[in-house]
Amino acid sequence: MGDNRVLCFLLFVFFLVSQVISEDPYRFFTWTVTYGDIYPLGIKQQGILINGQFPGPHIDAVTNDNLIISVYNYLDEPFLISWNGIQQRRNSWQDGVHGTNCPIPPTKNFTYILQVKDQIGTFFYFPSLGFHKAAGGFGSVRIYSRPGIPVPFPPPAGDYIILGLKYILDSGHNLPFPDGLLINGRGWNGNTFTVDQGKTYRFRISNVGLTTSINFRIQGHTMKLVEVEGSHTLQNTYSSLDVHLGQSYSVLVTADQPAHDYYIAVSTRFTTPVLTSAAILHYRYSTGTVFGPPPSGPTIQIDSSLNQARSIRWNLTASGPRPNPQGSYHYGLIKPTRTIRLANNAPVINGKQRYAVNSVSFSPADTPLKLADYFKIPGVFYLGSIPDYPTGGGGYLQTSVMAADFRSYVEIVFENWEDTVQSWHIDGHSFFVMGMDGGQWSPASRLRYNLRDTVARCTTQVYPKSWTAIYMALDNVGMWNIRSENWARQFLGQQFYLRVYSPANSWRDEYPIPKNALLCGWASGRHTRPL
Ligand SMILES: *[C@@H]1O[C@H](CO)[C@@H](O)[C@H](O)[C@H]1NC(C)=O
Ligand SMILES: *[C@@H]1O[C@H](CO)[C@@H](O)[C@H](O)[C@H]1NC(C)=O
Repeated sequence: MGDNRVLCFLLFVFFLVSQVISEDPYRFFTWTVTYGDIYPLGIKQQGILINGQFPGPHIDAVTNDNLIISVYNYLDEPFLISWNGIQQRRNSWQDGVHGTNCPIPPTKNFTYILQVKDQIGTFFYFPSLGFHKAAGGFGSVRIYSRPGIPVPFPPPAGDYIILGLKYILDSGHNLPFPDGLLINGRGWNGNTFTVDQGKTYRFRISNVGLTTSINFRIQGHTMKLVEVEGSHTLQNTYSSLDVHLGQSYSVLVTADQPAHDYYIAVSTRFTTPVLTSAAILHYRYSTGTVFGPPPSGPTIQIDSSLNQARSIRWNLTASGPRPNPQGSYHYGLIKPTRTIRLANNAPVINGKQRYAVNSVSFSPADTPLKLADYFKIPGVFYLGSIPDYPTGGGGYLQTSVMAADFRSYVEIVFENWEDTVQSWHIDGHSFFVMGMDGGQWSPASRLRYNLRDTVARCTTQVYPKSWTAIYMALDNVGMWNIRSENWARQFLGQQFYLRVYSPANSWRDEYPIPKNALLCGWASGRHTRPL
């Protein structure tokens, strides 16, 4: 009898578990990664294609969907995809950067099993190794709200993606030809977005580039900002929008002008010269083609960009991924228990130009840090190998990992003493942008923090000779990359890892290592599950 009761109980538990798992739908993707010819600026280049496409296919998902993405690497070099802004809750195993995953060797495959848990909004994926990102392999990720969860604007008549980047031509050609800007992989007038007069469209703009901020605008039209990296914003109207490296924004555009064609312009920001590219906003039944030059935008001015950044606010009463209002999380009332100050710098180390955080220039290990941590492989990295504050000392190389406690609440101040705009991204989390300003940050700067309605996002800019401060709940156990979104800087050391640790060793806090985890370096040949 007792045994039967146990069996019944186990069946009941199994039933419950299977119910819970089946609640969130699965979406399956098979991606083949190959080289292929692309003509981004009319000149043949070797690109990285996913399923033959440049940019890669976009992913459409709904909050909490499970995404099963099998990636087949047909390049002749290792490859990895990472997910800008997908939080990978309890699951840094899927983050796809070299500190968490072994590269997919040539001719091999790897299946990412991830969930877009508790997220909405606009993000993108990109190849994380070397400079693959310069050649393609990136694409958009749109996460829609679940049915029944209110969205703070009526459903748009169309939902368009704009992936902008400054494209650097491979120097294999002899023609003098400047680098250019690409919109969805194409140059000047390479894209047409068709609209019906009187209707409203959503444009999701991501800067997937490597080197520069961009500015986005549409001739004769204004834009209503509605979403920033998963936060619904106050719906301010802008005539142009700065999108820094790695950032994503959604705007609503109403086709309320005479039925012509109009320029959609994207240009480089804070550069000389300014590069511009254009696409076409085409009114169905348009009676004319585009006229005049594309609208000009801001160029090197910092103040207007800073003011725009400060005007971006959270809509406290709008719902996020859950039905409750975003503003019910009172981020400004929680006291951070730790302040981390991170200064970027550009030291010369061993005669080479490097980039660093608090004087530490990240040096990649031969074993993913996450695997070294899991298998307790000594000597790959040391906790505390990067200080919490700028030291002012000379630069040095280190596989830098900062230790942090699960469920702590931290303040991070990005300090930029250099004269270029920085863009910082944190994997696995979203954070509140408390404030930004020129000059040196000090505790008194906290008096000017926005404690009420700033946005939560995953990528923030830091203006030249300025600081940006964030609050962040460390609510995600794992090994998380904090990096410059300027790719050369990231590659040459302006990054490190934050190890968010829970002593509980429980599935509630972190998923076990996936059965299909690739093993490499000192982790080769280890077993992924206890025998
Ligand atoms: C994908 O990789 C696994 C090993 O990780 C292998 O067993 C499987 O056959 C591969 N699939 C294909 C279709 O190549
Ligand atoms: C904020 O969201 C609410 C609820 O969806 C909406 O009614 C309101 O228009 C939004 N306010 C602004 C200023 O965007």
